[in-house]
Amino acid sequence: MEPRIKMALAIILTAIIVGGIGIGVTVIVLTPPEADALEIYHWWTSGGEKAAVDALIAVFQTEYPDVTVIQSPVTGGAGYTMMGIIKPLVLAGEAPDAFQMHAGYEGKPYFDADLLESIDHIWDEDLKAAVPDVVESMNMFNGHYYSVPVNIHRVNVVWYNKDLLDDNGIDPATLTTWSKFFAACDTLKLAGVTNPVQMGETWTAAHTFEQFIASVGIDFYEDWINGEVTSATDTKLLEAFGYFETYMSYVNPDHAALTWDDATKRLITGDGAFNIMGDWANGEFFIANKTYGVDYGTFAVPGTGAMYGLCIDCFQHPRGVSHPTNSERWLKIVASKAGQDAFNPIKGSIAARTDADTTKYGAYQKAAIIDFGAVTYMFPSVVHGSGAPEAFKVKLSAIISSFVTNLDESAAASALTSYTTQISDEYTKVWSLD
Ligand code: GAL
Repeated sequence: MEPRIKMALAIILTAIIVGGIGIGVTVIVLTPPEADALEIYHWWTSGGEKAAVDALIAVFQTEYPDVTVIQSPVTGGAGYTMMGIIKPLVLAGEAPDAFQMHAGYEGKPYFDADLLESIDHIWDEDLKAAVPDVVESMNMFNGHYYSVPVNIHRVNVVWYNKDLLDDNGIDPATLTTWSKFFAACDTLKLAGVTNPVQMGETWTAAHTFEQFIASVGIDFYEDWINGEVTSATDTKLLEAFGYFETYMSYVNPDHAALTWDDATKRLITGDGAFNIMGDWANGEFFIANKTYGVDYGTFAVPGTGAMYGLCIDCFQHPRGVSHPTNSERWLKIVASKAGQDAFNPIKGSIAARTDADTTKYGAYQKAAIIDFGAVTYMFPSVVHGSGAPEAFKVKLSAIISSFVTNLDESAAASALTSYTTQISDEYTKVWSLD
């Protein structure tokens, strides 16, 4: 029986007993014990994602073998589908014991509605010492902790098919500007690769656009997430849209019908050479038994070599959950070294803890760990819930969805900037990225 239904039944039966005693009637009814369960929602449903979350749950089950873990996975990359399901549930007081969420702005509607428990006690000295400040602070509202991170994903990554580049004399290390990248795409097209770039559905287009914004400069990105890009004729904004328009001439025409992982898989099959995607893509290469540096490789999105774009998955303790003890246990496993070192090597992310056992991580992640420590700038992803108000993220997706079909730069710039002005009071955080 579903735990919430069991709980409701228990309450009704208890009410019958109490009511019966009150009117002098003897009624013997057995109250069923509360099921020892943990119910979690997440959107990790691609092959790599599922393998990773199963590994994390296995750590939980080793520690708590008697607890039944009920996963409620909601298909749809980056959580866009799940958000539409979880938000009404939580706002109606029907939250599961924990749910996947991005650090930063994404938790704010729940915090504002007083629907999250503060979890300061879980952030003990050990956890604070292990998690980098930039990540730690994104799990706080008003000076208190409300979530724990399980990972750090990098969003500004270009994935490539190594054979296609080698066969056409393209050295990925040289692709540091958009003009060099587009020249490489021309070379591939001439060699018969019809669509050198593979892209997927709407949110992946918005993800790509976010990287164009970063590529025109960290100061501009900072202004963008601080709600300060409000002119439709802003030259940097139009520059970003200009790159995107050129980029689209190399993209697969069926992009709108493709999930993110199907777009990534086209690099595995050799149907495409490049794919801009966060490093959860590594999980797809991993489960396909592909070797980093042999079958595929990565480089930073042109213009963003000194940057690490952050996407941080976390969990929280919603108020009034059915299994508060298990909710807390889950958060502790999520935050633990054992949990993170089981999950992240498969997921493609690096651990949110700096004391991770790096021997457990593959070649891509070993390089990412070095990059994380070496880059000059970090920027929080908007498309992955952290950098800007939720309303902006949702609107951005709609605007980019139109842009990739009509390629109307000035209409897109105008829609984006006027929306920023419209919701200006929702920009409550002032980011400082340098
Ligand atoms: C991100 C999420 C990652 C990955 C990706 C694709 O938003 O944080 O863990 O799952 O979406 O679904």
